[in-house]
Amino acid sequence: MLLDIQNLTLGLPGAARPLLADVSLRVGSGETVGLVGESGSGKSTTAKTVLRLTPEEATVTGRVLVDGTDVLGLSGAGLRAHRAGTVAMVHQDPRSALNPVRRIGDFLVERLLRTGRAGDRRAARERAVELLGAVGLSDPERRFGQRPHEMSGGMLQRVVIAGALAAEPRLLLADESTSALDVTTQAEILALLRTLREERDLGMLFITHDLHLAAAFCDRVYVMYAGRVVEQQDAERLFTHARHPYTRGLLACSPELGDSERALQPIPGRPPSLSDAFTGCPFAARCEHAEPECTTWLPEPAAVPGGGTAACRRLTDLSEEPAEPGLATVPSSLAKSSLAKSSLAKRSTA
Ligand SMILES: Nc1ncnc2c1ncn2[C@@H]1O[C@H](COP(=O)(O)OP(=O)(O)OP(=O)(O)O)[C@@H](O)[C@H]1O
Ligand code: SF4
Ligand SMILES: [Mg+2]
Repeated sequence: MLLDIQNLTLGLPGAARPLLADVSLRVGSGETVGLVGESGSGKSTTAKTVLRLTPEEATVTGRVLVDGTDVLGLSGAGLRAHRAGTVAMVHQDPRSALNPVRRIGDFLVERLLRTGRAGDRRAARERAVELLGAVGLSDPERRFGQRPHEMSGGMLQRVVIAGALAAEPRLLLADESTSALDVTTQAEILALLRTLREERDLGMLFITHDLHLAAAFCDRVYVMYAGRVVEQQDAERLFTHARHPYTRGLLACSPELGDSERALQPIPGRPPSLSDAFTGCPFAARCEHAEPECTTWLPEPAAVPGGGTAACRRLTDLSEEPAEPGLATVPSSLAKSSLAKSSLAKRSTA
């Protein structure tokens, strides 16, 4: 298994509950795995631990295995090699990753030299131009000399993805990496990520707020709430047979195109902060199915039919069917076929 996070718990001094609690998550080579949840649920923190970017003051237990090596035990040269070569992260805002006054090409050449993947500066320059072509930018020689303000957000995200590929990583952590883009550009970047994953057998952890997008783009999806994984299933099955009330709540409050008939139902209340502690199920205060026992009994992940797990004490008596028939359709704009390795990925963005 390429990434195998086992029972990861991360606590901060002064917090009433752990920021991450008993998180277990796996990503295989060539697999795209979604990580979904409301703001503050711990998605980015989980991804950062894979690079061992944890707060200094944090207490961390559990294991984060990448190719069998526990990242939490790395330091010095081993940690630098891990960060430079095995895992790469792409964030939401490409402009924050790029120096506004420097050329795109310099960003890539520096990365290549730092990772030791390209030999001397001349070879790094050639490789940088190749990478700009590989992420679908037209006229890569000219792009090499451009500065960030000369490019659109979608083009810059391609540049940042090229920078991530410079290290020839085996695992890509995409943290809301398409959230700031318009839908057309988002579809292009998703198609590009899918193509790169197939060509390079990359494992990908795809973080998003958008459960519909995750279900359409990923092979499997983990749903997080208050620092815990509350459900994990094959993506399509999660979409049609979500079992945890929180997952169903997320689906019920997400609008879709052509959805005028279905009333959107927001999840009542707000996601908990780090000063909210729980004696039972963390979702109890917002759950329409909560019973008094839910506030004192912490549900462990239990197997669900069809594979996967859900952590809810009422799993057996809540229906297996989707909460509403309208929830069982993947939006056509995000269907796997329309994001497939397609001309979109190769299309010039000039
Ligand atoms: N170094 C830190 N010190 C204190 N609190 C932190 C620290 N890092 C994260 N947090 C808190 O931990 C919680 C989880 O943060 P995290 O960034 O992982 O959430 P997220 O699911 O990625 O949210 P978003 O969707 O908004 O990006 C948040 O409440 C955040 O404020
Ligand atoms: S354990 Fe209870 S409160 Fe938690 S999700 Fe299940 S039914 Fe709702
Ligand atoms: Mg985040």
